[in-house]
Amino acid sequence: MKSIKDLRTDYQKSELNVNDLTEEPITLFQQWLSQAITYSNDANAFVLSTVNSNGVPSSRVLLLRDATEKGFSFFTNYSSRKSQEIEVNPNVCMNFFWPEMERQVRINGSISRLSEQESDDYFNSRPYESRIGAWCSPQSQVIKSREVLVNKIQELKKKYPNEVPRPENWGGYTIVPNEIEFWQGRASRLHDRFLYNKEGENWTINRLAP
Ligand SMILES: Cc1cc2nc3c(=O)[nH]c(=O)nc-3n(C[C@H](O)[C@H](O)[C@H](O)COP(=O)(O)O)c2cc1C
Repeated sequence: MKSIKDLRTDYQKSELNVNDLTEEPITLFQQWLSQAITYSNDANAFVLSTVNSNGVPSSRVLLLRDATEKGFSFFTNYSSRKSQEIEVNPNVCMNFFWPEMERQVRINGSISRLSEQESDDYFNSRPYESRIGAWCSPQSQVIKSREVLVNKIQELKKKYPNEVPRPENWGGYTIVPNEIEFWQGRASRLHDRFLYNKEGENWTINRLAP
């Protein structure tokens, strides 16, 4: 195996110049996301970091389901570890890495639940198996074996052969950003970094050292 000490990429694919920056960052994020989607079906995957009541962080990969001026949303189990941490601390950090474009975006913001209606609408758009799965898994809890899940799925399919209601503890969150940083890899480690900060209704923009 090649030693990881010898793995090196000299990023040369693109540039991020002052002229490319939009007045607010959501439009630029949408542009980068749509370009990333042309390379990978997982382009909407991001790492979400939360912090618990003792100041201990935890991270996991999630799938972005919407990105508008109202916020960045995803769906999950409201009893999970992440949700328990969000209950005590709404400050979260998202990170997207798009290697094909040599790009990274970091978003800091405040998180809150989507409305019941928004969660219902998304839940009802999911395939049958995913809707059953939402009932089946006590996400982040210790379980005895895989059989526990497999047996539960069989029971749930009998109980809900057609319509599957949304479980109360399953739904969406939205993150309202106050900071968004765009990182474009460049040659010789002289990367382009621009940080947007929300100040009142407006965004200020600064270039950061790589
Ligand atoms: C590519 C990928 C996409 C994922 N998407 C989601 C998602 O949208 N929602 C979700 O709850 N978990 C998703 N997961 C699972 C989470 O990473 C995590 O295991 C789960 O949410 C439990 O996290 P927690 O114990 O920190 O709450 C995904 C995992 C991967 C690798």
